[in-house]
Amino acid sequence: MPRPSRTPNRPSAGRRTPAGGAQFSPRPTDYRTRQPAHEYELEVLPGLEEVAETELSGVKLARDQRGLRFWYPGDPERLTRLRSAVAAYRVKAWDVPRPRGLLGNQQLGELTDFLRGVAQVGGHRSFRLSAAGKESSVMQRLADELQAGLALPHDPQEGELLIRLRPEQNGPGWEVLARLTPRPLSARAWRECNMGGGLNATIAYAAHKLAGQRDEDRIFNPMCGSGTLLIERALMGPYDAMVGVDISADAVACARQNLQAAKKQIEVAQVDALDTGLPARSFDLIIADLPWGDAIGDHRHNNVLYPRFLDEMHRLTSRHGRLCVITHEIRLFETLLREQDRWNARELFQVYSGGHHPKAYLLGKK
Ligand SMILES: C[S@@+](CC[C@H](N)C(=O)[O-])C[C@H]1O[C@@H](n2cnc3c(N)ncnc32)[C@H](O)[C@@H]1O
Repeated sequence: MPRPSRTPNRPSAGRRTPAGGAQFSPRPTDYRTRQPAHEYELEVLPGLEEVAETELSGVKLARDQRGLRFWYPGDPERLTRLRSAVAAYRVKAWDVPRPRGLLGNQQLGELTDFLRGVAQVGGHRSFRLSAAGKESSVMQRLADELQAGLALPHDPQEGELLIRLRPEQNGPGWEVLARLTPRPLSARAWRECNMGGGLNATIAYAAHKLAGQRDEDRIFNPMCGSGTLLIERALMGPYDAMVGVDISADAVACARQNLQAAKKQIEVAQVDALDTGLPARSFDLIIADLPWGDAIGDHRHNNVLYPRFLDEMHRLTSRHGRLCVITHEIRLFETLLREQDRWNARELFQVYSGGHHPKAYLLGKK
């Protein structure tokens, strides 16, 4: 068993005002920086909106069915570092009844300027369009015009500057959303190794934030898989110690590769999490994404694994420690919680991701 490692410690022609804008209204301009405010939309996994709101603290957000919208006058670089969002888009709308209207001289000029501004932030090297009817002749012409105007190649499959066109929700026009970063924010730079069943990194970030981030925590991540929970925590800030284990040699190798890419020195070992040989009460935070019984493990096996896991983690958790569990085996896990009297438990969130709807729970010893 390895030693836990320690940390060295829109608005076209000015026709729009900011949505809900107590923070930035009545004028979308920050006179300290004299930067024009832009409107943005955050794509967030359903269930993690509050975590994203907290991460964007100080910014007045409006939630609608499509995402979180806000006006932001500051340096957009901050938005490219968000860890709870899948993607951030700059948004601008035009008073045109259909996309063909964007091909008008004035609109095309405005659109090109708008997209150039985003490409300056993100350093995109190609672009692609995403819209209903994107194979239509209008969209082809738009792509040709943008290719010339932006001096970026149009790559319909892999284009880095993702440009989404859609009808306005609360207006007569069309809006254009341009993704700030060449890849989604959730596709972390450190993820060199992907594993079936790997956790979406925004879920890992949310679980850590809601389970509590404490500099003095000794953290254990049993069943670490590709290392998502370890790396996201290491990137959040100091902790006292952290270690991960997985029973699979491939998972351990994958986690190590990702840790190296993240430049984080955290020990991971090929060890059965139920038989670590570690002393009782070794950890203040145990955080685990248990096998969900589909890509990883199977339901029958989980009927045995989960109760044994809860027993062993009870032994390893310090007196005032926390156990955070992420699982899609909701019925099984909630039955186990009802049938025991050694843990206090509460649900932290339920998130919708990739056809799954896992929950995260926080348990404390009674
Ligand atoms: C849902 S996956 C974890 C995925 C991980 N959160 C990630 O982002 O890659 C569950 C992991 O539990 C591991 N596992 C299953 N039983 C185990 C045990 N008894 N001890 C340690 N690891 C175990 C599997 O090998 C698998 O990597």
